[in-house]
Parts: sequence; structure tokens; C-alpha cells
Amino acid sequence: MNTNTLKKEDAVATDLAAQQPLLAIRDLRKQFTRANGHLVTAVDDITLSIAPGEFIVLLGPSGCGKTTLLRCIGGLETASEGTITINGRAMFSAELGTDVPTRRRGISMVFQSYALWPNMTVFENIAFPLKSRRRGMSKSEIREAVEEITRVVGISDLHTQYPHHISGGQQQRVALARALVDGNALVLFDEPLSNVDAKVRRDLRIELAALQAKLGFAAVYVTHDQEDAMELADRIVVLEGGRIAQVGAPQEIYENPVSSYVAGFVGSSNSMSGTVREVTSTEVVLDSTMGLIKARPNPGLVAGQEVEVMFRPQHVRIHQERPSSTNAWPMLLRKIMHSGTHAEILLTHEHEIYQARADADFEAVLDSDVWVTVEQRHVFGFPKRAVPA
Ligand SMILES: Nc1ncnc2c1ncn2[C@@H]1O[C@H](COP(=O)(O)OP(=O)(O)O)[C@@H](O)[C@H]1O
Ligand SMILES: [Mg+2]
Repeated sequence: MNTNTLKKEDAVATDLAAQQPLLAIRDLRKQFTRANGHLVTAVDDITLSIAPGEFIVLLGPSGCGKTTLLRCIGGLETASEGTITINGRAMFSAELGTDVPTRRRGISMVFQSYALWPNMTVFENIAFPLKSRRRGMSKSEIREAVEEITRVVGISDLHTQYPHHISGGQQQRVALARALVDGNALVLFDEPLSNVDAKVRRDLRIELAALQAKLGFAAVYVTHDQEDAMELADRIVVLEGGRIAQVGAPQEIYENPVSSYVAGFVGSSNSMSGTVREVTSTEVVLDSTMGLIKARPNPGLVAGQEVEVMFRPQHVRIHQERPSSTNAWPMLLRKIMHSGTHAEILLTHEHEIYQARADADFEAVLDSDVWVTVEQRHVFGFPKRAVPA
């Protein structure tokens, strides 16, 4: 085969496939019995492989099974069905009764509550995993390892402090250093940034990305925050009711969401109701309160079907005069919010609110009639979701 004909994506895929996955999860299911006797399927038939050095984010709203999946990987929870393999070694198999304890899985964990030992100094906290595993490290080797990682994480000056004497952001750095000090190839994170304020959160996120690039560990990172996910992930796994709704690179998921659930969760979206009039290979024609709408092709839809029409604020263009293009809708311009880098605009149509995003210098008369347009390639028609019981 002429390798020149290989596309870049193919080359990457071949490359990854050739490698043994670091973590392989197969047909994993975890059920809980609630106090009232009801069975909950928290993790529902998950299959997922993670390459060495890959940063995976598990994204979804509260209760979708993120923590349970992470705890199964870490050995803190025993799954009901399926297998978990790390570096080719079976860590868990429901069928064979294999369940390797956490400390022998070769992984580190960072939690939302930093879980630092309050009666130990920062140095002692970070040194702890090296001591407790009786790996025969000498005192000076341990000191060297702790000094190295605290330098990398930027907390060299905190060695003698106790956790309650340092800030939340610093505590999270200590927790990070403790997770990274023994050089495990896989680190699990459960919403590690949700207890720090927005500014610290942004800083820590950038530092974490830089650390991962430098140290090369693979990560499974749980969050409900789409900014965390978009910025950190090589691949995002969107979870919905314990199942995988979509897996892909952040940009891929953002541009090609497979459902209204994914589109609504990754990036902000406008939404309205519509009915399918016609489906062709190049477009979907919909009826709505706006009149006729042309949306991206979606072979899954059929004429007469009720759909959710979705489009992103940054794809909305605002005009003073009626444009001749398709997907031109009359709206009332209600509010302009300047944020420095751009302007958020609120519009209404028959009491429904829509959002647009424009340049920072956008100006218009409030409560004026305007026309908005959205190109067909930016309009999605998704099957209406069943309302949860
Ligand atoms: N120990 C438990 N006992 C009973 N139900 C649980 C237990 N842990 C989690 N669940 C249920 O499993 C589902 C998934 O929970 P969880 O994994 O914590 O979600 P997330 O981390 O995405 O918020 C929820 O419905 C939750 O109530
Ligand atoms: Mg959770």
C-alpha cells in the first residue's frame, strides 16, 4: 500500500491501534440497590479504550454515572459485569471473579475534596505514597522525588506547612503532587477543580494541561464543566444515564453533536421546536414558528417527525434589513451584554429567548426589530428527546 495515500487521521488511528491500550474497559455495568429496594444502573454497558498518555474527560450532568465509572476503574467500586484491563493485565473481571485492589492497580487518584492528611505537613503528605508502598526507597530518594514534583507543581516553598494553613488552590496542588509523585502512568481525577474559585480554576486547568504534557501520564478526568472538558481533553466521553452518548475530540463533538443532549451539553445552544417536512441527502426542511427552516442533513429523520432545532449563538448573524437568504427570521433585539472580548445578545421571538454572539463593538437600538440568519450547515434537527419519567 502506498502510505502517501493515508490521510493523517488514518495514520493516527493506525498508530493508536498498533499500541496496546493503557486502559481497556469492556461491557462494564454497575448496579446499585437503593435503600427503597430500587435497582439503579449507574454504569450501563460501557466499552472504552485509552491510549498511553491520552487525556480522557468523562463529561455529563450530575447523576450520569461519572464517579461510579471512575471508582470502578480505580477499584473503589466493584462492577456488576464486564472487564477492566490496565497495561494488558486484568484488574477486574466479573466473570472470573478478578478484582485487584486499588493499591496494586498502578494508578493515582485526585478527588474534589483534596483528601489531604490534616496532621501531616505538605512534605509528609506528598511523601506518603512513596513510603506506604514499601518500595524500598531511601529517605534521601524520597526527599529528592518530593522536591522534584513540588518544583514542577510550584509549591516548593510550602513543604513545612499544614493543609489548613494553605489556600484551596495550594491544597489542590499538594493533592496533585501527591498523585504524581510516584510516576504512575494513569491518573484518575474526580472534579478536582470544583472547590476552587473561577480564577484559580482557570490557572490550575492550564497548569494541569502543562503538567500532563510534560510528564506524559494518561488521565481519566471527571467533570460536569464543559470548559474543563474542552480545554483539557484529547477525547471527551459524554455520558447520559450511565451510557456513552458520544466519544470524540472536543472540536469534533462541538461541531458534530449526535443528539440534542450532546449539543446542549457541549457548548451553548439555542433550541426551538419543529416538524420535519422533507429529508434529502443534502438537507432537512423543517416547519417551525419561524416558518420554513433548512437544517443539516440527518438521514435518521423522517417526514412528520417532531424535532428539536438547535443552533449555536456564535452562528447567529444580526441584520437591520431583511436579508434574501434562507433561514432569515424576524426577532426583537432585547439586550446587549458586552464582555470585553465579544458581545452576548438576547433576542426574542414570540416570547422565546434566543442568544447571539457578536463582535465586542456591536451596537444596536434596544427593543428594535431585527433579522437574524443562521446558515443551513449550522442548524441541527434532532429527534425530540423522551421526557424523563
Ligand atoms: N452507593 C450508591 N448507592 C446507591 N446508588 C448510588 C450509589 N452511588 C451512586 N448511586 C447512583 O448512581 C447514579 C450515578 O451516580 P454517580 O456515579 O455519583 O454520578 P455522577 O458522578 O455523574 O454525578 C446516581 O443515580 C446515583 O444516585
Ligand atoms: Mg460525581
